[in-house]
Amino acid sequence: MSSPDYAEKIPNNVALADDRRLQRALESWQPNFLTWWETMGPTLPTQDVYLRTAVNVGRDGWARFGHVPMRDYRWGIFLAEPSPDRRIAFGAHQGEPAWQQVPGEYRAELRRLIVIQGDTEPASVEQQRNLGATAPSLYDLRNLFQVNVEEGRHLWAMVYLLHAHFGREGREEAEELLHRNSGSADAPRILGAFNEETPDWLSFFMFTYFTDRDGKYQLGTLKESAFDPLSRTCEFMLKEEAHHMFVGTTGVDRMVERTAQVMVEHDTDDAAAHGAIPLPVIQKYLNFHYSVSLDLFGGETSTNVANYYTAGLKGRWMEERRKDDHQLTDDGILVDALIDGQITRTEVPALTGLNTDLRREYIADCEGGVKRWNRILDGAGLPHRLALPHPAFNRKVGAFAGIEASPTGEILTPAEWHERNSQWLPTSTDKTFIRSLMRPVYQRGKIAAWLAPPRNGINGQPFDYDYVHLA
Ligand SMILES: [Fe+2]
Ligand SMILES: [Fe+2]
Repeated sequence: MSSPDYAEKIPNNVALADDRRLQRALESWQPNFLTWWETMGPTLPTQDVYLRTAVNVGRDGWARFGHVPMRDYRWGIFLAEPSPDRRIAFGAHQGEPAWQQVPGEYRAELRRLIVIQGDTEPASVEQQRNLGATAPSLYDLRNLFQVNVEEGRHLWAMVYLLHAHFGREGREEAEELLHRNSGSADAPRILGAFNEETPDWLSFFMFTYFTDRDGKYQLGTLKESAFDPLSRTCEFMLKEEAHHMFVGTTGVDRMVERTAQVMVEHDTDDAAAHGAIPLPVIQKYLNFHYSVSLDLFGGETSTNVANYYTAGLKGRWMEERRKDDHQLTDDGILVDALIDGQITRTEVPALTGLNTDLRREYIADCEGGVKRWNRILDGAGLPHRLALPHPAFNRKVGAFAGIEASPTGEILTPAEWHERNSQWLPTSTDKTFIRSLMRPVYQRGKIAAWLAPPRNGINGQPFDYDYVHLA
């Protein structure tokens, strides 16, 4: 492993300079990436932004902070440090040395997994491109751009793997990653949730809480991969991903905090009258983002995922901490099911139920957010509570795709759903109201009326720091 060289065109810790062919291939992809960034990335013109840039992967500091023009951001290629003698932790190859090269028999599957992960990274940048125009503060604007540049770096991470390990097909896939676009009619992004708009900051905070968190769990399974370069890539991406989770978690915290403040101060549930977001509207956005994110985990059962596991391509969340045989050939799992029109559970082989296993880990994690937000309401002396909707609510994928259910899991007829879903999902009136709140606040130390300021700034800087210089 080489130490990163920042003088190079593409900063990296993969000794790119020793592989001229690969270096040239990536350098010829680089201008296409920059064109994509200029045309599909953030639309708000800026001079520079106070950004974190990955410069190393070691324990003693992996990032540096400074004001940089976004187009000069150093998107680099970083893999976590190798663990010497790493062994495969699960599946048919358990105990064998991890692979440094792609085994021919798994080439197509590994490429597919990398492409699907890679596709989500630029997609979210595209979804969020107009948010700068309505940023509630310079601090939030900076966080948006931080997430954006790092999703760009995650695209680099996947493109590096495609170029380095999948030959001509890999290079073609890397081009395709720039050609598909979020919401495009003829070349959409691969996964549904990544073709939804992120039109406002309430959606952005919900997206970074719920949808980026799906990404965290997907990366967690790829981090277990027997294919060591993929494992190490994902391990480092997870480090950056933690900040994206932070933006979502604290974004919703601060929204709820502000709403609670207004409700207490004016002794009313009508937060809207005082420029804050009413709790029922926050709940509707939560319902939407949570349910579309549950769909990202796929069907309750999947033979593909069972095969990926057995082959060693993709493990479970925290695979090595699990106390079982890491083969799962004799185990079962209860998965959600619809039987005779009733919401119930049914037992299937553990291997085919791995999507359910991962989704459950994710749901437990999401419950943590709801607990936090309810603590804020409780602390303000309010009896109101937020809640995760039932897994059957608003699903387009899996056992519940064919039915409609309420957030409490009551099965509804199509007529009932039609009549009542405006209580549970954002309506055009809600969206118009949210849009009316989205006015940019670009003065240092100021913040929009619907959001509480953060407790701390970024990297020890105060909230009123000049995080962004607009053009
Ligand atoms: Fe990412
Ligand atoms: Fe992310």
